[in-house]
Amino acid sequence: MSTSMTKEETVQDTASVFSVRNLWKVFGPKAERIPNGELAELPADELRRRTGCTVAVRDVSFDVRQGEVFVVMGLSGSGKSTLVRCLTRLIEPTSGVLEIDGEDVLAMDKARLRELRRHRAAMVFQHFGLLPHRSVLDNVAYGLEIQGVDRLERRAQAMKVIAKVGLEGMEHRRPTQLSGGQQQRVGLARALAVDPEVLLFDEPFSALDPLIRRDMQEEVIRLHREEGRTMIFITHDLNEALRLGDRIALMRDGAIVQCGSPEEIVAAPADDYVRDFVRDVPREQVITARTAMRPARDGEAGVGPEVTPLSTVATAIEAVARDGAPARVMDDGKLLGIVDHEALLAVVAGLDTASPKAGAAA
Ligand SMILES: Nc1ncnc2c1ncn2[C@@H]1O[C@H](COP(=O)(O)OP(=O)(O)OP(=O)(O)O)[C@@H](O)[C@H]1O
Ligand SMILES: [Mg+2]
Repeated sequence: MSTSMTKEETVQDTASVFSVRNLWKVFGPKAERIPNGELAELPADELRRRTGCTVAVRDVSFDVRQGEVFVVMGLSGSGKSTLVRCLTRLIEPTSGVLEIDGEDVLAMDKARLRELRRHRAAMVFQHFGLLPHRSVLDNVAYGLEIQGVDRLERRAQAMKVIAKVGLEGMEHRRPTQLSGGQQQRVGLARALAVDPEVLLFDEPFSALDPLIRRDMQEEVIRLHREEGRTMIFITHDLNEALRLGDRIALMRDGAIVQCGSPEEIVAAPADDYVRDFVRDVPREQVITARTAMRPARDGEAGVGPEVTPLSTVATAIEAVARDGAPARVMDDGKLLGIVDHEALLAVVAGLDTASPKAGAAA
């Protein structure tokens, strides 16, 4: 497929790691008759009664861009694990188009698939999946071992990632001699050791207690900042999604109901399901001045405090309160718009943002 690429495809390839179009996964007998047919429209329980099939992933399309943290969120049973496992064909998709770096994943033979899973897309699991009789060091080196990397080299490489995830000095312990958080660091180190292009996380921290969980989230953020590695991260915890995600895909009943930045999802939920999810989010800490601002009017150019477009509404509220005047949203010396008291309150109150009349209702 590399010979006849159009310019557009080439551009898309450099921007996307995974490219997914109209992907379906149906479990059950003769699953391939379900996608895009009338049967697919049936309510889940009726479909199961009539055909014995379950639609776990329903006509899903998205791109995962290079270097981003792409979060897949949704209630239990919404299809998150199935979707992410389809990406490396740990679960075989029923239909659709699936590419990694422009290469057709569904056309890969066994050897190529093995290569994909071992080198390019490494998975970190919820229950760690460590080998109990091996030391931390040998667990971390495991992926390199099955790649045939020689002993000295894989130990050196493993020691490097062990240090990177903060487990120095523990390399000779067994997994049972570690806390849950430390075990998950080993799982993370094992995935990192093969230096994959993408890290896939299936609810890696949901078995950890809240403080450790917070630590591990910080760890992922730090790693991402330092390395810029592409990550796909499943969670059903909204706070985790907001903290980690550059973009969030929200799933319900196998479909993606909304995909966007945390701010887009909080500021403009696509439907009641999403609105319900984000109900308790402190909106002023997620929504930015760029979203809350209105166009400037005559005479507003030179007065009032300045905020940047990416300042949170919370920051703008402080600035407006200190100064008494509406804040100017400035980017590189250019006035983009104004956030006034009314618009800021509208954000806090959960009214429609980004509308010039938003303030009138407050
Ligand atoms: N092997 C299977 N055979 C039949 N149905 C399955 C299979 N695996 C998953 N399902 C069904 O597919 C749907 C999606 O499951 P999936 O595990 O992807 O959800 P999830 O969003 O990861 O849930 P959780 O948050 O509980 O992990 C569910 O209805 C589930 O029962
Ligand atoms: Mg799951």
